[in-house]
Amino acid sequence: MTGTQFVRAARVADVRAAGCLAVQANGHTLALFAQGERIYAVDNRCPHMGFPLDRGTLHDGILTCHWHHARFDLASGGTFDQFAGDVRVFATEIRDGEIWVDLAPHGDARAYQRARLQDGLERSIPLVVAKAVVALGAGDGAAVEPFRIGLEFGARYREDGWGQGLTIHACMINLLPFLHPGDRPRALYHGLTAVARDCAGRPPRFGLRPLPSAPSDLELLGRWFRQFIEVRDAEGAERCIVSAVRAGADSRAMAALLFAAVTDHRYIQIGHPLDFTNKALEALDAAGWEYAEPVLASLASGYADAARMEESNEWRHPVDLIALLDRVFEELPRALEAGGIRRTAWRGGPALVPVLLGDDPARIVDALAEALRAGAAPADLAGTVAYAAALRIARFPQTNEFGDWDTALHTFTFANAVQQGLARVDSPELVRGVFDAAMSVYLDRFLNVPPAPLPAPARGDPEALLREFLAVLDRQQQVAEAGRIVAAYLAGGGDPGPLLATLGRALLREDRNFHTIQTVEAAVRQYGRLRGTPEGAHVLVAAARYLAAHAPTVRAEGQTYQIAYRLFRGERLFDGADASG
Ligand code: FES
Repeated sequence: MTGTQFVRAARVADVRAAGCLAVQANGHTLALFAQGERIYAVDNRCPHMGFPLDRGTLHDGILTCHWHHARFDLASGGTFDQFAGDVRVFATEIRDGEIWVDLAPHGDARAYQRARLQDGLERSIPLVVAKAVVALGAGDGAAVEPFRIGLEFGARYREDGWGQGLTIHACMINLLPFLHPGDRPRALYHGLTAVARDCAGRPPRFGLRPLPSAPSDLELLGRWFRQFIEVRDAEGAERCIVSAVRAGADSRAMAALLFAAVTDHRYIQIGHPLDFTNKALEALDAAGWEYAEPVLASLASGYADAARMEESNEWRHPVDLIALLDRVFEELPRALEAGGIRRTAWRGGPALVPVLLGDDPARIVDALAEALRAGAAPADLAGTVAYAAALRIARFPQTNEFGDWDTALHTFTFANAVQQGLARVDSPELVRGVFDAAMSVYLDRFLNVPPAPLPAPARGDPEALLREFLAVLDRQQQVAEAGRIVAAYLAGGGDPGPLLATLGRALLREDRNFHTIQTVEAAVRQYGRLRGTPEGAHVLVAAARYLAAHAPTVRAEGQTYQIAYRLFRGERLFDGADASG
């Protein structure tokens, strides 16, 4: 409570004569209603989309807005229609035949917006989510609050555990620092609505408690965990996760435990569980380790239920890639040991890339093992494989089937996750993921036949190019043009910051697409390692081409966000001269 701030609003007689009167008072537009002996004052803007409530209908104490028929208890302002939200009511006093209204703010506005965000998530109402996010803001650390709410919600209310929604949510928090400040709430909105949609209509998860006295031996828990995943026992595996966290395992220890199990089989579920693991750990970096139990537990079923590429035809025939990998994995401990002794700045990446893009899988695995023996840090080696995977997209010809973009995308985001994971934790088991990613790059080789040429880095005016980029993506299938603009921007000495922000804007204005979001986020992460190099430009060219292939969409989600934004700014959305017409 902040005291009172009464102002004179109208004469009682005028309100009684009219039944309802709209008045201005200190910058507020109020609707005054006479009902029985009392006078009620409410904000005249319907909380849904701003329709003037003085044009609504009052019956039996319920005020009904005429635009979408939201109903409100006139006395409290509470709504009966969750898509609308409560309307603000103002206390009134009658003094000498005049109505005085208390305009002082009451209640905790942020607490109300947090509750509305929860409502929006529970009912999967994008406009409610958008309004809460816009009001809560995304600047100066404010983003973490809605991010945590979405993370906790997604981990709890989806029986199948971590999925696309939470992955998009984590991608968005990762992209936030690279975006224009004005686009940051929009990014949160995309992530949160993705979580809501992923949970809508699904049973919740009932998390498991840790073992009554969790063993402090994390190695033992790790062995149990891998064994339970091996036999596809998701509940046993989940109990190991929560027990390990409760026993005090930190982020690095849990990363090592999870990455070991998720790479015990080859490229499981076309890379999603490993990518999801990386995203879950990144989400915890942003939200705080206190969310680790429910968040990491949500990964277990994805591991246990995943298809294993040992079971797939393409990894077995005509070349038995599994046998090749099994052979090299036996050598891995010695290769890592030899490399660890020699480890210096490894410079073998450029020579390795053509091998990775070639058609000899035995040569590829041997070259990777040799690089480790020569002292390549696993994270650097993983980065080289991620770059090769990005080149598959940068050189993806449009003669392919459209769905093939996804095949190339899966390899790239998997390779990015392996690289990010190895940068996080020195896990010898996760090094197997580097080889898996390389085999997937090999299997994708038909997607570059013939390869689209990389754009020649002709220079151009950076600012004009950014404007042109957004205009080009208003038209369908401007794949080559989008790549050309990005290459020209960087060749012309353009600052990468505005380019990344423009890629982000181009992404966020489209309707949410899981794979496009993954591509752009992974490219931005990989560009962080390659900034200022030709390889860095190629990675962003890949992201631009993928974006262009998937734009424009209907942009309906952006329209919803824009409504929320305009309402927050106090703009009028309803402009009808006569509501009764
Ligand atoms: S119900 Fe009032 S503006 Fe939609």
